[in-house]
Amino acid sequence: MKKRIEKMRGEFTVALQAAAVPEDAEKVRVAFLGKKGALTEVLKGMKDLTPDERREVGALSNALKDEFERMLATRAAELGRGEIEKKLAAEWEDISWPSGLSRGAAHPIAVIRRRVKEIFVSMGFEVLDGPEMEEEVNNFDKLNIPPDHPARDAQDTFWLDNGMLLRTHTSPVQVRGMLSHTPPFKFIAPGKVYRNEAVDASHEHTFHQIEGMVVDRNISVAHLIYSMKTLLTGIFEKEVEVRLRPGFFPFVEPGFELDIKCLICGGKGCSVCKQSGWLELMPCGMVHPVVLRNGGIDTEEFSGFAFGLGLERLVMMKYGIDDIRLFHGADLRFFTQF
Ligand code: PHE
Repeated sequence: MKKRIEKMRGEFTVALQAAAVPEDAEKVRVAFLGKKGALTEVLKGMKDLTPDERREVGALSNALKDEFERMLATRAAELGRGEIEKKLAAEWEDISWPSGLSRGAAHPIAVIRRRVKEIFVSMGFEVLDGPEMEEEVNNFDKLNIPPDHPARDAQDTFWLDNGMLLRTHTSPVQVRGMLSHTPPFKFIAPGKVYRNEAVDASHEHTFHQIEGMVVDRNISVAHLIYSMKTLLTGIFEKEVEVRLRPGFFPFVEPGFELDIKCLICGGKGCSVCKQSGWLELMPCGMVHPVVLRNGGIDTEEFSGFAFGLGLERLVMMKYGIDDIRLFHGADLRFFTQF
């Protein structure tokens, strides 16, 4: 009988290991510990034993019963957990997984515009906004652009049926800024501008400018150069050399073209700077007294400077991009680089 009990432990262990679901484990329990189970049968047969044998077998089988119950409990828990895990695995979803759409990237123009704003705001400039559909007076007349100036020609300006136009530059915000502020003031005005131009590698009909204007007492060209150098050092993240050449715009006097030392060849001359060592970057100048007076400013007391930064041009120089048409394209290989 002792041998049978020992054998039963082996059978029980094998049967229990084979159980794959909680119901199997229950079947094993019934087979061994149920009313007609194998161990129960052994206990039933004890009445035929001598008192000594009975004591021994009784102790053995009781111990075995306890052991079986412990093993059953452990196995049932294992199988139960397995069931839950299987269920969870089937239902599991990775909520951090990107959806079908790929993540967007900031447009290079937006990246640089944000940076330019940061730099000017850190110098105390206000950021102004102006309409893209503008009055002729603000876009031309008040900026001292005479009625016969070629820039007004239908070739360059998109005229609208309502007599207004799409602003050809951000300079009309100078007019709006002067009329809504009392000097001293300094502001920038980023925005889109439009020109009726044939599109090629360096011309677009729609592009971005950031206008800048400072009006205060005793403003000189030195202030202009200092501000531009601060801007360019911030954008290119290194010292850049600048020079001013005379440039003509009716709303500035004197007017300049600001050049920077070529970033590619460092001024030695290369194909990018057409061997000159310099790159033309931004028109600027001292605000024409007529323009200041049109803006209600006393030119006895105040003077100012202004600039018109072309963002496409700046971005092209910063990243070495050679075709302006890429900005309005839809090539994600281009846009996800910035
Ligand atoms: N508004 C001029 C343009 O678009 C640029 C400019 C701005 C020049 C301010 C001088 C001063 O061409």
